[in-house]
Amino acid sequence: MPELAYLNGVIRPINETYVPIEDRGYQFGDAVYEFVASYNGKFFCMKEHLDRLEKSMEGLSFPKVDRNFIQNAIAELFEKAGMARAGLYIQISRGVAPRDHAWAKDIKLQIIMTIKKVDELDSKIRKQGIDIITVQDERWSNCDIKTVQILFNAMAKQKAKDQGAFDAIFISKDGIVREGTSSNFFIVKDGVIITHPLTKNILPGITRMVVMDLARNLGIKAEEKFLSKTDLFSAEEAFLTGTITEILGIKTIDGVPIGKGKPGEITQKLYRALREKAE
Ligand code: PDD
Repeated sequence: MPELAYLNGVIRPINETYVPIEDRGYQFGDAVYEFVASYNGKFFCMKEHLDRLEKSMEGLSFPKVDRNFIQNAIAELFEKAGMARAGLYIQISRGVAPRDHAWAKDIKLQIIMTIKKVDELDSKIRKQGIDIITVQDERWSNCDIKTVQILFNAMAKQKAKDQGAFDAIFISKDGIVREGTSSNFFIVKDGVIITHPLTKNILPGITRMVVMDLARNLGIKAEEKFLSKTDLFSAEEAFLTGTITEILGIKTIDGVPIGKGKPGEITQKLYRALREKAE
């Protein structure tokens, strides 16, 4: 099962694929991306990921790309890799050009993809829940656009790891809980799941949306509300959602146990429902 890369129509092993040094994604972070996972040979929520990719491209004033073209390229790579449980990364950069902040009108988009097997998270971690830390959100003000400019996210994740935690969540300067480094964040309060409203300060997560739908189908109320740091510590449960994270229960935040200090019932119920839907 080879790990493959796609570069403007050419598919090769990942370690034999190179992007030109003057790609604007590399030089300026001038690129958008998506990460999609497959279960049992079928991509989960591909349409929603492609919708968001188009929105991100619009957000950076990229020219439109034909959806069929991208879908066919994805299908070709997926078929060649032959992985039932795959993680597909797609990145579209504005293109390759001599380094200059402004770009020429005729610059051509550069499309890359990689495909790798998804390693399931250790079931012990899922059962016990994770420790997370809070960090001040110092990212730019367009976090709803999924650009490759995620240095601050990477630094926050590393900070969490250095402190023996699994991940970090961003808190705005005025104390609002935003999202995780590569996930959205929810609490459970009085049996209701609550998450940050869709604004420019968070990514509109596909898993976030699926989880809210699943909750409603299960008779669990779902709300979008700004949460403060104090709301965190009075929560009955808390969890992260994302394509790789799926639904991951939180044990402690900044060393303080949340609820019973392990993934709660609603978190587990939603996780089972998500897996059922995806598989
Ligand atoms: N990240 N918030 C941020 C900042 C993210 O980077 C992600 C996903 C999410 C969750 O979105 P979704 O449910 O659509 O995966 C929220 C991907 C997985 C990544 O960076 O690889």
